[in-house]
Amino acid sequence: MKLKFTSIILLLIFFSCSNKKVDKFPDDFAWGFAVSAFQTEMGNRNGTNNDVNSDWWVWTHYNVENNTGRVSNDLPEDGPDMYDLYESDFALAKSTGINAFRLSIEWSRIFPDASGVPDQKAVAHYHSVFQSLKSHGLKPLVTLHHFTTPVWLHDPLWIIDKANHGNGPRGWLEQRTVDEFVKFAEFCGKEFGGEVDLWATINEPMVVSIGGYLNPLPGNAFPPNELNPEHMVAVTVNLMKAHAGAYRALKEYDTVDVDGDGKSAIVGIVQSMTDFAPVDENDEDDKIAAQHASYLYNEWFLNAIAKGILDSDLDGNGEPAPELGPSVDYIGVNYYTRMHVYRLGQLFPYYPVIDFLPRYPEDCVTNTCTEMGYIIYAPGLYNVLKIADGYGFPIYITENGIADANDALRPEFLKQHLQQVLNAIKDGMDIRGYFYWSYVDNFEWGLGYSKKFGMFSFDPVTKERFKRPSADVYSQIIGAGKVE
Ligand code: BGC
Repeated sequence: MKLKFTSIILLLIFFSCSNKKVDKFPDDFAWGFAVSAFQTEMGNRNGTNNDVNSDWWVWTHYNVENNTGRVSNDLPEDGPDMYDLYESDFALAKSTGINAFRLSIEWSRIFPDASGVPDQKAVAHYHSVFQSLKSHGLKPLVTLHHFTTPVWLHDPLWIIDKANHGNGPRGWLEQRTVDEFVKFAEFCGKEFGGEVDLWATINEPMVVSIGGYLNPLPGNAFPPNELNPEHMVAVTVNLMKAHAGAYRALKEYDTVDVDGDGKSAIVGIVQSMTDFAPVDENDEDDKIAAQHASYLYNEWFLNAIAKGILDSDLDGNGEPAPELGPSVDYIGVNYYTRMHVYRLGQLFPYYPVIDFLPRYPEDCVTNTCTEMGYIIYAPGLYNVLKIADGYGFPIYITENGIADANDALRPEFLKQHLQQVLNAIKDGMDIRGYFYWSYVDNFEWGLGYSKKFGMFSFDPVTKERFKRPSADVYSQIIGAGKVE
């Protein structure tokens, strides 16, 4: 009898311990912030850190100077100046309790022209950045392409100013850009492999292709701002090739295992994922629209690089493409919102799955929305993690965040989304880390500085950083290892 009683007690202890275990984030979970070079590096008062050699620099300056209305009137050189301030920024970021940091290397700083000769000052700069991360105990996750391409490969004005730029290089429409990107990856693997193990090749390729070639949104235009579905498809396929080539280059040339886990290069993609839902959930057509939207935006690229299946005519069926994949060690998920779509019928008959449109702007009367006009919907994070998990690779949440200047919604946003991450882990998904977008307010592409995603704000003149209250919420969650 006594024995039975003791075993029941032991069983109870066992279950309470194991429950506790799954109620918490793993001890080795990566907690971080995410930033990108173009959005945060510039801002030095005398302009010594401006990088004038990327397509986005040319794009924003042309549109602002010509008052085209395509983008805001803000300029990247008024940013938070992380190029100078990274040391104190990493100390400040570390004080929240994080152990990792996602940033990007600016391709156009390393290779400012077509000569193939790297700029040694820029190379030395990024070495200092990585040393600084190391000294603060922050593991780097390094992106090689975060929206910006050197202007010697992409003249962003070739569509909107044909008279003067019509013959300019066409970026991801050209095989040359793919080849040069693979060379850039090879260079980074050799040069920075002793400081970096965790790499992301390309940030949100579907935003690059859809944003650049299928984006009707006024006021937040992505270069080159053409409406051309064939070009959207061609650019996407080239980005798949670029990813696969860069994956192989990093695996071959980064031979140094920095953290001693037996792996010198862990290489993934950063995929923007949206939780698509039908506008009318009882309407069969709208349901199909939601499936098609998810197929195009969430799955098409991943099918190519994680499964080696390419659907080049977007009819919903792919062909084996072993040259494209599998070429990932993990999938990076960026999640911001749920989006409702409805079926419109064939928009482009030769691409059958493009037959839907989003309800835009979203319904922010019955839903709470962010300053981006995005619906806040935390269960959507679980839904997209489930899609990513279906590919069978580990997952990092490489971005999740909210534009919220007053920090009124961010604390709850953070808690609700992290609870979904925890639910996903409990359900057996292999999620290795979470990077909040963003550390500090920054240049939100065509929308400039009006959208404030940072857990820290900055003074536009002094560049001093100020902590928003949600940073303490983040610290508390990290410290406790769970959402309370
Ligand atoms: C991008 C970031 C951007 C963020 C917020 C992501 O699409 O990777 O560069 O600032 O979302 O909109």
